[in-house]
Amino acid sequence: MKVEMQKVILITGGAGFIGSNLCDYFLSKGDKVVCLDNFATGHRHNLKDFINHPNFSLIEGDIRNATDCATAVKGVDYVLHQAALGSVPRSLKDPVTTNDVNVTGFLNMLVAARDEKVKRFIYAASSSTYGDSESLPKVEEVIGKPLSPYAITKYINELYAEIFSKTYGLETIGLRYFNVFGRKQDPNGAYAAVIPKFVMQLMHLERPKINGDGNYSRDFTYIDNVIQMNELAMLTQNPEAINTVYNTAYGDRNTLNNLVGYLKEYLSEYDPRIATVSVEYGSNRAGDIPHSLASIDKAKNLLGYNPKYSMQEGLKEAVGWYWHNLR
Ligand SMILES: NC(=O)c1ccc[n+]([C@@H]2O[C@H](COP(=O)([O-])OP(=O)(O)OC[C@H]3O[C@@H](n4cnc5c(N)ncnc54)[C@H](O)[C@@H]3O)[C@@H](O)[C@H]2O)c1
Repeated sequence: MKVEMQKVILITGGAGFIGSNLCDYFLSKGDKVVCLDNFATGHRHNLKDFINHPNFSLIEGDIRNATDCATAVKGVDYVLHQAALGSVPRSLKDPVTTNDVNVTGFLNMLVAARDEKVKRFIYAASSSTYGDSESLPKVEEVIGKPLSPYAITKYINELYAEIFSKTYGLETIGLRYFNVFGRKQDPNGAYAAVIPKFVMQLMHLERPKINGDGNYSRDFTYIDNVIQMNELAMLTQNPEAINTVYNTAYGDRNTLNNLVGYLKEYLSEYDPRIATVSVEYGSNRAGDIPHSLASIDKAKNLLGYNPKYSMQEGLKEAVGWYWHNLR
């Protein structure tokens, strides 16, 4: 019988939405998890289910600090680098801090991972890298010009990762996440993502405000599909599958109007009054791309990716989580 080796995994940004879900998952698989986070946008309550787990350790530190990065990678097999400042509007408001965290912090983590000779460095890239390219579906090799400081930082990450693979032999895989949603995604604050924000508004019988006419579309991706991609990226033994980037999505698109329709339908099972809440429309937001849809063929072919949750299936789960945990 093949004995599975326990892995030591560093999850940067482990107190955030995606990072805390990754911590939870890999702890449940029996791995050791180290979380590096400065709680800039992450929360202690995201760690509460496993903070005392014997295989979990938390390092409060900042990826902008090279010493913190070096401390965090000690004895680590794999890095799942999630720490960054997300949000296009935040990057437009404060491009310098976004750059410090997303570019300098990323580079610090690459250097630390290289020096520690970790087995592989997997990182959160972004669909924003497709920029102004209008082609659909998005295939990894065809990108446009970035439309925001955030998008620039995420593209620079890919360029650095490629150079570290080529020049230092560090194995890297970038996962271009497409509009991820699910349990633990923060509904609060000026830069909250659209799904948790709308869910909270609807639960409080407030009208969700859509930027634009609601016909912009996105490949909304449930967190469990993202976890699957991280695990596949970590474990693949296919030499052709490493030192590259992958769309991390479901491979379908829905408009914002569709999204709100589903949210109302699923939430009205908990409170029928929600079915009557109407939407408010505003103007389009700077830096937003009109449509986004991923081709997931590369991930299917090279990693064996097989996403289990459609947007609708994921929304049902997410809505239930918000209703029971945050109402
Ligand atoms: N959520 C999405 O739809 C989406 C889409 C594309 C890419 N991404 C990327 O995925 C990653 C995770 O995103 P998320 O949605 O979980 O966001 P999040 O804000 O919930 O998590 C980010 C985490 O990084 C931490 N962090 C920020 N700056 C740090 C620093 N200087 N040092 C240490 N930790 C720091 C935060 O405290 C937080 O816990 C990010 O890299 C983001 O750019 C997310």
